Amino acid sequence: MKFKSLVVALAAAVSMSAFAQAPIVIKFSHVVATDTPKGQAAERFKELAEKNTKGRVKVEVYPNSQLYKDKEEMEALQLGAVQMLAPSLAKFGPLGVKEFEAFDLPYIFPTKQALYNVTEGPIGKGLLAKLEPKGITGLAYWDNGFKVMSANKPLHTPADFKGLKMRIQSSKVLDAQMRALGANPQVLAFSEVYQALQTGVVDGTENPPSNMYTQKMHEVQKHVTLSNHGYLGYAVIVNKKFWDGLPADIRGQLEKAMADATTFEKAIAQRDNDMALDAIKKAGKTTIYTPTPAEQAAFRKVLLPVHKEMEGRIGKDLITAITKEAAK
Ligand code: LMR
Repeated sequence: MKFKSLVVALAAAVSMSAFAQAPIVIKFSHVVATDTPKGQAAERFKELAEKNTKGRVKVEVYPNSQLYKDKEEMEALQLGAVQMLAPSLAKFGPLGVKEFEAFDLPYIFPTKQALYNVTEGPIGKGLLAKLEPKGITGLAYWDNGFKVMSANKPLHTPADFKGLKMRIQSSKVLDAQMRALGANPQVLAFSEVYQALQTGVVDGTENPPSNMYTQKMHEVQKHVTLSNHGYLGYAVIVNKKFWDGLPADIRGQLEKAMADATTFEKAIAQRDNDMALDAIKKAGKTTIYTPTPAEQAAFRKVLLPVHKEMEGRIGKDLITAITKEAAK
């Protein structure tokens, strides 16, 4: 009897230690190619997280909507089917945190520094805190860049957009932006954009060059306008229950890995976009157009009223606070 209970106790100890050694798995799902600022930073986070925790954490990165598309990945995070995402700031509206759409307002950030004033200050922190009641913890802001417009016709002035079907992300600000230009906005998941452009389901779209190039959108868009009319960036988010349930030392190591991956991401974002634009030029299938100052002014005139129009949705105070911070 004694011997039997010893065997049982030993077996339990062995299985517990096996359990204790099983790595904690973080599934990190995202929708862009690995060879983009976000894709590379996700890989860097994996490398640092696994190294910092000496293998106690294993990060599995699933790029290119391999696991989930835009909307599904948010649901998967809340359900705990994946632990980490980095959706664009334009995709938090369906979650009920529409304030993030302020980042989509045309021309709200004149420079990257203006953006960092917001994301790295109290406004940025306050926005991430709004995710907590949704069961989500915000860890960092990641960068992409300023957006260009594309279509199969030249887009030199607002009038050129009239009647075009333009693919947008799920943001009401982007919807208002395209309507202000006289276009018909259509929300599509990122993974569906290439085919929608190719088959003519939509006529055009907007994105920074890194996304355009890595999804080969330039192969099915004859004209790109360097409008730089708006910004695209990300919030890196985790399932709150999972995050809070991690041993404190592990969480600390992961926070460090995230901070370092974020520094890396910000350092490569602009360079990657510049390289992607060069590559689009070299591919020779797309005409790249820089609007004249007068054309830029015409775009601003049509698009700036979107700020006022969106006050009811995003909050006048938030828009004013961001504008003030961005002007510092
Ligand atoms: C898009 O859906 O257009 C982009 O936001 C995708 C991304 O995550 O960069």
